[in-house]
Amino acid sequence: MTVLEAREVVSGYGEVEILHGVSIKVEEGEVVTIIGPNGAGKSTLMKSIFGLLPLKGGRVVFREEDVTGRPPQAMVRKGMCYVPQSDNVFSSLTIQENLEMGAFIRRDNYRARMEEVYALFPDLAARPHERAGKLSGGQRQMLALARALMLEPRVLLLDEPSASLAPNMVEHVFAKILEINRSGVAILMVEQNARHALGLSHRGYVLAMGQNRLEGSGEGLLNNDEVGKLYLGG
Ligand SMILES: Nc1ncnc2c1ncn2[C@@H]1O[C@H](COP(=O)(O)OP(=O)(O)O)[C@@H](O)[C@H]1O
Ligand SMILES: [Mg+2]
Repeated sequence: MTVLEAREVVSGYGEVEILHGVSIKVEEGEVVTIIGPNGAGKSTLMKSIFGLLPLKGGRVVFREEDVTGRPPQAMVRKGMCYVPQSDNVFSSLTIQENLEMGAFIRRDNYRARMEEVYALFPDLAARPHERAGKLSGGQRQMLALARALMLEPRVLLLDEPSASLAPNMVEHVFAKILEINRSGVAILMVEQNARHALGLSHRGYVLAMGQNRLEGSGEGLLNNDEVGKLYLGG
């Protein structure tokens, strides 16, 4: 089943149109990566899908339901979670409090879920009362993923999860994303680290100037001449 689909999305900021009809799809079980130059509209697409920006055209379909124009909290209730590139944890709160905030929309007892999430992130489980602001960039990114998982999403939208991390942390974060995916969560991510991200993705898209430029399997895009020249450093 298709978990998430953006159809011909037109969106932007105020009068300024940034996306001129962008289409992407995420099937159940997939990791899908969007690459493209700075300013292509990748973050704008994530925000548009998640209901943070109004659409001027096109549709967003989540598990065969048209959810165009719904606010973020409605998307979250349906099973879509979004981790922005920065400011994705509450620095002044502890790890535990961040996870509780992540669960705020749940009406049930979230303790059992918290244990599951801690099991996936033993480094966080080891110090639940540490303030998020004291964590390294990599650990903060792990916490942002953990927080999103509190709501048991079916699809996770990740905007540059490896940005500004040390190389060994990049490895850890990607390994964790794959582990999350194998647990049954579809992933749609934007990445600058194109070679690495496409290498672990089922499929990928290249966006340029607010339009679809290329799409294919992760492998196919890695072997594409244009992708190689422009996004993989030759
Ligand atoms: N809040 C905003 N207000 C106005 N323009 C914005 C805003 N955020 C981004 N833009 C513009 O939208 C375009 C696409 O930005 P963005 O989606 O962040 O690109 P990418 O994530 O691909 O680097 C850029 O020209 C950028 O300057
Ligand atoms: Mg961006």
